[in-house]
Amino acid sequence: MSQLTATERRERLKQYHDRVTETVESPLCFCFAADIEREYRQLRSVLDTHYPDSRIFYAVKANYNPAILSVFRKLGCGVEAFASCELQAIRAAGYAPGPVLLTGMNRSRSELATAMRWGVDRVLVDNRDELRRVSDVAAKTGSTVDVLIRVNPALNIPTKDKIATGKESSKFGLDVDSDVAMATVSEVVSDANLCLSGLQVHLGSQLQTTAPYQSAAELLIAFAAKIRAETGAVVDVVDLGGGFPVPYQEPVPTPAEIVEEMARGLTTAAADHDFPEPTLYIEPGRRLIASALGAVGQVGAIKNRPDTCYTVLDIGSNIITENWDFPVYNLTASGPETAKYTITGPLCISNDIIRKDVSIREVSLGDHIAIDKIGAYSISATSYLNASQRIPVVLVDSDGKAKLVRPREPCSEVVAIDGEETEL
Ligand SMILES: Cc1ncc(COP(=O)(O)O)c(C=O)c1O
Repeated sequence: MSQLTATERRERLKQYHDRVTETVESPLCFCFAADIEREYRQLRSVLDTHYPDSRIFYAVKANYNPAILSVFRKLGCGVEAFASCELQAIRAAGYAPGPVLLTGMNRSRSELATAMRWGVDRVLVDNRDELRRVSDVAAKTGSTVDVLIRVNPALNIPTKDKIATGKESSKFGLDVDSDVAMATVSEVVSDANLCLSGLQVHLGSQLQTTAPYQSAAELLIAFAAKIRAETGAVVDVVDLGGGFPVPYQEPVPTPAEIVEEMARGLTTAAADHDFPEPTLYIEPGRRLIASALGAVGQVGAIKNRPDTCYTVLDIGSNIITENWDFPVYNLTASGPETAKYTITGPLCISNDIIRKDVSIREVSLGDHIAIDKIGAYSISATSYLNASQRIPVVLVDSDGKAKLVRPREPCSEVVAIDGEETEL
């Protein structure tokens, strides 16, 4: 299954938009299950080629709609999920606890207890304080938990600063050279309810080069070898996180190039340290979901200004929360894509800009404009600025059947919680 071209993607959005436009008012969003299936299968296939002993855990935070999660479940994909409401979402999607990797860095005892009582037994731990809560709760619930320790690899991460998590100054993970890291590992090793399963890093999102994956793999194997030397414990999992980038406009490293780099790092370092090649976990979010979703809004105003022409849509940065060069198409007009516009949302903030000076077909009032590949960290990061409603989502399954999997929230629901009063 190859990627659709931009023209094919535009025509597909138009076809489904025409079909549902009478039933679902603008703005709305489409999710194409076929795109998720293609990305997942391609990734699985490159893993099978370069590092077969591996598992994929979809990072639920990228998009947690239960109907969409059930597409992942049917593919046999694991999930990396935050405690509390993400756990609720995967349960609603029909997931059993087996393929779950519980993520986080400050989970409460009650969140951990809920997860463990349900049967989650694979927990990523970021710090020693939280490890003690994991240990207490495991003992109280009679659970045996496989622990993965998150490491801060202190690398230069080739992406936007605010989504670079594997740099030294980030809040995530333990510094391998610190005493705390080895002390934390020792606590796991000596705890009857815990089993030291693996080491993890998450470098960041939308990585522009592959080299950090090899460095991270080498660093984790070197740390694993040190752990074996000091405690006798042998970790059997190395988790290299997410970060697989999406070609929004510019070319980016492919999943095959990244997996090859990971495999090279793991096999070389394992040979160097005479260490058994571990099982590889990866936690991709963005790459598996971004291109599956396209939003469609309607033009309510066109404003010529000295520097640009603003096209004002009914969908804004409350939904399109990230700032990438998302493909934009005019679904209504025909003709060449040569007219330049700055596409904005309706919100009362000046940075409510979706794309600056993008060339599309000439726009008229009422036209439907698609913002494509917005599936990652958009709906899941929606804001309620201006008490805006969240966007409805139509899921198109791989047989072409469309169903509404998230209705538009009525305003009464948007303000209901804020209006609720309780005497204290
Ligand atoms: C621990 C962890 N794993 C995986 C991911 C997924 O990253 P991406 O969507 O870039 O693949 C994230 C994203 O924030 C994360 O925090």
